[in-house]
Amino acid sequence: MARYKIAWLPGDGIGPEVLDAVRTVLDASGLDAEYMPGDIGWNMWLAEGNTLPEWTVELLKRSDCAFFGAVTSKPPADAMAELPRRFRGKGIKYSSALIRIRQQFDLFTCLRPCKAFPGNPGNLKEGIDIVIFRENTEGIYCGAEWPRVPQEFYAARGMERVSPNAAVSMRAITRRASQNIAQAAFEFAEKHGRKKIRAVHKANVLRATDGLFLDAVREMAREHPKIRLEEMYIDNCCLQLVLDPLKFDIILTTNLFGDIISDLCAGLVGGLGFAPSANIGRKWALFEPAHGSAPDIAGKGIANPIAAILSAAMMADWLGERKKGRDIEAAVADVIKEGKVRTPDMGGKSTTMEMGRAVAGRLR
Ligand code: NAI
Ligand code: MG
Repeated sequence: MARYKIAWLPGDGIGPEVLDAVRTVLDASGLDAEYMPGDIGWNMWLAEGNTLPEWTVELLKRSDCAFFGAVTSKPPADAMAELPRRFRGKGIKYSSALIRIRQQFDLFTCLRPCKAFPGNPGNLKEGIDIVIFRENTEGIYCGAEWPRVPQEFYAARGMERVSPNAAVSMRAITRRASQNIAQAAFEFAEKHGRKKIRAVHKANVLRATDGLFLDAVREMAREHPKIRLEEMYIDNCCLQLVLDPLKFDIILTTNLFGDIISDLCAGLVGGLGFAPSANIGRKWALFEPAHGSAPDIAGKGIANPIAAILSAAMMADWLGERKKGRDIEAAVADVIKEGKVRTPDMGGKSTTMEMGRAVAGRLR
């Protein structure tokens, strides 16, 4: 029997394409794993009226961790419009598969490293090495939205009570989730010899929610005196990231800010093709490239699989196979530095599988 059971979720668009390349790399790394395929995403919406069918949830529960490609997700109204007729009127609601997994499995840490690999033509500056810790289960993505808004809101704006002209999304922040993500960031800093954590927030406006978040972070900082905590407003953070990315080390933030900052940081180091991520809970984790299903290039076999391959290195590390994780990252670094194999986003003509085979070739 294989040592690790990995739920394998290719999903939609370029998800299956980059995952094929990842498998080539993982096989070459010698990771002793059984890969258990699972259904997820837009195709499941069209086939089952459910982006995350129950059998996939059961599969996840039987696995040590999951590896995920990408899913196409749409705003509920658009998704409902494409729901096959046979499901209509059955009370089916649309929801994002990935957000459901993060919440159901309490994957409170979203870990997103952004590294400028030497030789990558997309690097804005050499030496960038930023690690983002994004809270992953609440904030504005907690899923509470109302087309109906409290009476006072309408009254202050001279509108009637029920109006199609106003909507509300709730931003829920809890001490528990804030402590969890802060703890993950501080422990990572200690383990990896990093010196500084920047807590990114907007507490001057979001006083209650970001006030609570900062309070939990400061408390955690007191327990980790060797790590320096600095606080920064989200807007200034975006500016500083572009002007002087080298002064950033670890960024610790809430869900939506983390989502946006991670794409910004990906842009500093060559784009989404270089942005791996891990969603980590207490005992279980899901690894995925940060990018989506990229419908504009799907089916062409030209997506850059490096983000997904680096996510696989993070998975090996999380499983306790640290050497395999380091080897995979080193193989990626070699291929980038050599510059012979480059996908179109890097200005080259290589395919997804050519990149996968080039990385795998370094491991053998
Ligand atoms: P996207 O990440 O799919 O693509 C954004 C841009 O980056 C596109 O121009 C795409 O071609 C390019 N790109 C992304 N990954 C690339 C790669 N590996 N190599 C080369 N180029 C790459 O985001 P977009 O277009 O906003 O969303 C497309 C779909 O994906 C939507 O349905 C969205 O909801 C979904 N999505 C899913 C995510 C996930 O599964 N984790 C995350 C983000 C979006
Ligand atoms: Mg995103």
